[in-house]
Amino acid sequence: MEVLVADAAGFCMGVKRACQMAFEAADSRPDGVRSLGPIIHNPQLVRRLAERGLGVVESIDDVPAGSAVLIRSHGVPPEVYRRAAELELELIDATCPLVRKAHRLTESLAAEGYRVVIVGEPDHPEVRALSAYAGPGARVVQTVENVRALESAPRIGVVAQTTQLLGDYARLVGELLAKADELKVFNTICNATALRQQAVEKLAELVDAIVVVGGKNSANTTRLYQRCRDKLGLPARHIETADELRPEWFAGMTRLGVTAGASTPDWII
Ligand code: F3S
Repeated sequence: MEVLVADAAGFCMGVKRACQMAFEAADSRPDGVRSLGPIIHNPQLVRRLAERGLGVVESIDDVPAGSAVLIRSHGVPPEVYRRAAELELELIDATCPLVRKAHRLTESLAAEGYRVVIVGEPDHPEVRALSAYAGPGARVVQTVENVRALESAPRIGVVAQTTQLLGDYARLVGELLAKADELKVFNTICNATALRQQAVEKLAELVDAIVVVGGKNSANTTRLYQRCRDKLGLPARHIETADELRPEWFAGMTRLGVTAGASTPDWII
């Protein structure tokens, strides 16, 4: 069986940077360091970091005063920075620079008096943080129906969760035109997701089946898998580790494609 790996697969720049910072932080602080939420949506890597001393807490108030806390690439709301300062925590900020830029643009919209609309998944930590920067009155939309249900406002400012696809964003922005006299739109989308999708489309032309590697709790890996399964017309499997592979899945096939979400480390691929 020949195995081809997609040109763009696995860690994006922001996740790679956050993981490097997490390993360095764990190795250089023998008394322990905590991350606010799991550093990435990949259970194998989170376990490896735990073995090196990186704990996980759900709230900034669970970090012992004076110790170190790591902010993951998704970013956090402004009140987390304020609370960290109050508790005199050492802050290791691994927020992806592109996510930080989206925070600043969102803040600027709110400061200029726009009603902020965020296109993204309402429960995703990145979107929850963006909502906090967007101030009261911000709305999160994910579908055309969500946009149609919005109340109109004279001035609407729009940003997207960084992992949205440009075509989907453009469609919703088009719908938003009917909701405001003035619409200000920032393209806060990072192309890492699109690059992975394009690479898998190219790969699909060459292989009999595709294996998508990554956390079952990773939204971008799951989306990649759904796209392979539903849109590319190929047998597709979503696995976290090689132990899950079953030879019978690939009976009679000669070429297998492998791709991975942005939170999957190279050593697992
Ligand atoms: Fe950053 Fe893009 Fe990854 S925004 S965390 S490089 S998907």
